[in-house]
Amino acid sequence: MQVLFLSPAYPPEMIEYTRGLAEVGAKVLGVGDTPAHALPERVKPYLSDYLQVPSIMNEGDLVARVKQWLGHRKVDRVEAQWEILVLAAARLREVLGVSGMSYDTVLGFRDKQLMKERVAKAGLRVPYAFRARTEKDVRDAAHTIGFPVILKPIAGAGSADTYRIQNNEELERILPALRHVPEVSVEEFVDGEEFTFDTICIDGEPVYMNVAQYLPRPLIARTNEWISPVIVTVSDLNQPKIRKGIELGKGVLKALGMGTGFTHMEWYLKSNGEVVFGEIGCRPGGAHLVDQMNYTNDIDLFREWARVVCWRHFAASQRRVYNTAIIFKRAQGEGYIRQVHGLEAYKRRFGQWLCAEQLLPVGAHRRNWKQTLVSDGFLIVRHPRWEDALMMADAAATDIQMFASR
Ligand SMILES: Nc1ncnc2c1ncn2[C@@H]1O[C@H](COP(=O)(O)OP(=O)(O)O)[C@@H](O)[C@H]1O
Ligand SMILES: [Mg+2]
Repeated sequence: MQVLFLSPAYPPEMIEYTRGLAEVGAKVLGVGDTPAHALPERVKPYLSDYLQVPSIMNEGDLVARVKQWLGHRKVDRVEAQWEILVLAAARLREVLGVSGMSYDTVLGFRDKQLMKERVAKAGLRVPYAFRARTEKDVRDAAHTIGFPVILKPIAGAGSADTYRIQNNEELERILPALRHVPEVSVEEFVDGEEFTFDTICIDGEPVYMNVAQYLPRPLIARTNEWISPVIVTVSDLNQPKIRKGIELGKGVLKALGMGTGFTHMEWYLKSNGEVVFGEIGCRPGGAHLVDQMNYTNDIDLFREWARVVCWRHFAASQRRVYNTAIIFKRAQGEGYIRQVHGLEAYKRRFGQWLCAEQLLPVGAHRRNWKQTLVSDGFLIVRHPRWEDALMMADAAATDIQMFASR
């Protein structure tokens, strides 16, 4: 089993997928733009061969170089787990004659408007939305939909350049800020709670499923620096509250023709019980969501994904024991972390349930909270009871405080 894996060491969690592939018996042919000598030591034992390309994002150049490098060698799979490379992987599959999801299918997971059209065509509920290229298009769409509306890039990520607009004045104020975005989506604002639906699929059928809740909704967390964003996996997937969301998710996988691999979807639950599709990618969720899922079941999904991709078999336990919360912290002030308050007391109280603590240490420079989901670090805690997981997440959000200064 020879697997061509794009960007095997960057972002850093890719090393875990490379490990997974090697552990299930695959020979991993890595392709990335890191020079071979600069690859992390940890990834090297898992790579059978490695090609450095000048730019992993340059699809045409990548395809040409990989073809030449492979020569007569045959590969069985071409995989990418990083959102910006899933289309390049599909292109390589087509060029090399390797089975797996086609370019057109993957496009349905990348282009947010096409995605919504395909999902809506299957009779599933998506936000009422228009694609807009000019300011006039945006105004017309907003008036047709009615305020409040959401304005966001068609090709967005991490809630960047995303705005909730209440009225005409706000619209006129925000429009100049969107001039650098070539194409925006103007959408009905869907008020409600926000969840994920994550899977590992074999030919579109989930062999592993997960639901997690965002607290608060990502756009609110991204707009207010003082918030410690929290994401909690739901251990009980049979509870009525999320049943319709899971059904929606399965319908979306069918509508988009999902193949084999990870998916990460977001959906909204309105107060009247209605569920609405948000977006989906054919890759795992970021910001340590896979670690959270691993702690939820006490399993290794990096390896199980690899087993599924290589051998079409999922071997880990389906038993979801814990509700697992990740709490992202943001320091007060700018510059360098000077103090971390409350961490020792927190560990004394909840150490038994603490899975990971990776707050930036004193002396480290703050990260840009708008540009990174992990902010100035995070804690992961888990508990079999939902209320207790929430209580511990709440305590980490309020009782642990980081302070920075220049
Ligand atoms: N139509 C909508 N109604 C309500 N909130 C939305 C809508 N579209 C986006 N949002 C908010 O903005 C966030 C980011 O939008 P999303 O479509 O998930 O793009 P991305 O995560 O790729 O930036 C969502 O998590 C949600 O909080
Ligand atoms: Mg999103």
